[in-house]
Amino acid sequence: MQAPLLLLSLGLVYSLTLKPPDELLWDGVSLFSRGEWSEARDKLLGALKSLQEVRGVWLRCGEECGLQGAQLEEAVMERADCLLSCERLQLKEPSLYRLTQDTEKTFQKGAPYNYLQVAHYRLEELDEAAAAAYTFYVRNPYHEQIQGDVTRYRTMKGVPEQSFRDLEEPPYKALFAQAMSLLSQERFATAVLRLEESLSSCLSTIHDCRTLCEGTRERENETHRDFPEVIAEYYAQVLQCKQRCILEVSSSPGQKPTQPDILVSHLQMLQEGYAQLGDWESAAQIARSLLLFHPHNETVLESLNGYEQKQQSQSEIRPRENIASYVRQALSEKKLLYYVMENLDIDFQDPDLWTPEEIIPEGLRERIRAERATAEEAGGQLPYEEVMVTLTPRQMNGTSRVTLDGVLSDEECEALLGLVQEAEASGEALRRRRSPHTSHERIQGLTVMQALQLASSGLVDRNRAHFLYHATERVRVLTQSYFETKMLHFSYSQLVCRSAIEGEQEERSDLSHPVHADNCILDPEEKECWREPPAYIHRDYSGMLYLNDDFLGGDLFFTELDGTTVTAEVRPRCGRLVLFSSGGENAHGVRAVTQDRRCAITLWFTGSAGHAEQERFQARTIVTGEVSKTGEEAESKPARTGREASRTGTSRNEGTDKPSGRQQRRRVARKIRDEL
Ligand SMILES: *[C@@H]1O[C@H](CO)[C@@H](O)[C@H](O)[C@H]1NC(C)=O
Ligand SMILES: *[C@@H]1O[C@H](CO)[C@@H](O)[C@H](O)[C@H]1NC(C)=O
Ligand SMILES: *[C@@H]1O[C@H](CO)[C@@H](O)[C@H](O)[C@H]1NC(C)=O
Repeated sequence: MQAPLLLLSLGLVYSLTLKPPDELLWDGVSLFSRGEWSEARDKLLGALKSLQEVRGVWLRCGEECGLQGAQLEEAVMERADCLLSCERLQLKEPSLYRLTQDTEKTFQKGAPYNYLQVAHYRLEELDEAAAAAYTFYVRNPYHEQIQGDVTRYRTMKGVPEQSFRDLEEPPYKALFAQAMSLLSQERFATAVLRLEESLSSCLSTIHDCRTLCEGTRERENETHRDFPEVIAEYYAQVLQCKQRCILEVSSSPGQKPTQPDILVSHLQMLQEGYAQLGDWESAAQIARSLLLFHPHNETVLESLNGYEQKQQSQSEIRPRENIASYVRQALSEKKLLYYVMENLDIDFQDPDLWTPEEIIPEGLRERIRAERATAEEAGGQLPYEEVMVTLTPRQMNGTSRVTLDGVLSDEECEALLGLVQEAEASGEALRRRRSPHTSHERIQGLTVMQALQLASSGLVDRNRAHFLYHATERVRVLTQSYFETKMLHFSYSQLVCRSAIEGEQEERSDLSHPVHADNCILDPEEKECWREPPAYIHRDYSGMLYLNDDFLGGDLFFTELDGTTVTAEVRPRCGRLVLFSSGGENAHGVRAVTQDRRCAITLWFTGSAGHAEQERFQARTIVTGEVSKTGEEAESKPARTGREASRTGTSRNEGTDKPSGRQQRRRVARKIRDEL
């Protein structure tokens, strides 16, 4: 039996004074909601620290208790025994420190930092406040409250750029960024040093992540199942968790992982660095390591050939041992996981695209190929549960175009159509005029600002006007998250209805809106699209959010650059949103509306803050100003969470789910629905 003697000698024995992370977290949240800022801050910081220490124990014990022994059963039992004694030694009561999945998720999402930033702000610790806010923001980029708070910190005096740092950033990130910048300055010697540091730090982060995978798992359905099945499933879960570590370290928190993964990126850059330095042996060693991932990459094979001709010594160059061992380990885990996938019907989502086909059982290959293709174009995670991708870019026979359904509920469409009717009846903004595109239709347009002005004169329902604002905001968030862009701004948006003029529809052959592109001038003869004025060249993304389908004609269609070859056609209906990039790749038009009225919200977004529509800011002030009704000055805004929490009482659950962007959005959405 292994005894954790080493740990004793290191003197890492903790006393009973280490409070469990979850206890500290909930205490902190409850103090927070009573407005006891400095006590709350201390508890929350304590929770983060405690989590770090407990994880440290798990890591050290995991290290200490390696799998040894000839017989698997024996080895597993020994390891369990070793782990338990090791943890007892350091934590006395290890079970106290196990976290529920919910709590773990709370920590993972960085929720403590959202409370902390408010507490720090209240205590006038602006640097810490901005850092905590930024840390939460990085993990929840679509969380509206934190977006606003970070923006406000940025405009405050006395908060320097350095305050906006991610307090949980693993160390290799900064090293890697430095190395990239050094490479671009062609300072190869320093770049290579930095890359080596970054690579070893990155490998150690992956190692820790993998070790922590062996935590406890909560299973709701442990009974009524065979023991071996339970063991197999548990083990498969641990292996999957380990496999996913590469995704975790390769991506920024809150964002979709990038390809190629971070290890491959390190190797590619190191290879370039060593080649530039004329260190052919190291370059060859790195190239060989890269080939472990992509054995048939022509570029790498060719370079390797070059290095080997130039190098002096004739000794055989082998890949780096730590990389080779990573790949060996990953492959043996994948083999097992594909085996359970085929034979035990346990799902496995391979995070790597480099997995060689031989590893995958033949019966699964077709399915996995199809799944990969879909995953590749799945787009970013959508922050609303009700919204689904119904036509992917591939299904729409193009790129950067997508159809989402469920963006508005039936009641919400009704409310917006009601708004159109009210505005029309008021006779003000919504006059019908002949369409500029066809003499057979009339067209009416209503902007958010016009709706809000009509509401303030009492001519339309105020909630409906506000909802028009919220609906457009929903589209902005969806565009940003699907296309995974940086912050997008409104360039223009409008609710537009097109109505067929009765008695003028016979033998009509024109379109409701001729084929065009949104940010360039389409030249069908040349099959070009010129991104130059008078086109709205700063527009990056376009959206159409449909409100109804009780009309004839009016389908949206996309064409090739010739303006005539139709590649996709979409039928409008309530709550359907078509999003696409605004360039020539998405030339589009609208079929003639030959009966009744077709209403939609059209939106254009720009990534350039300088081209953001001014009207939008006014609308935002009106809407958000009226909603909060607290009468307090805008200056104390970052503390909004605090005020809300103190109003909603001290319930633990209420407190903790507050910082979840998704839930908050859903709640806002529900609230708006209730208002209507
Ligand atoms: C629990 O197990 C039973 C029997 O195998 C199964 O019918 C049921 O769906 C399971 N429940 C859950 C929540 O997995
Ligand atoms: C091959 O390797 C080069 C250099 O590392 C890389 O830029 C390229 O994308 C790789 N090609 C493929 C098909 O993976
Ligand atoms: C894409 O093209 C296929 C084949 O031409 C067609 O059947 C399909 O309807 C198109 N997709 C859309 C959304 O129109």
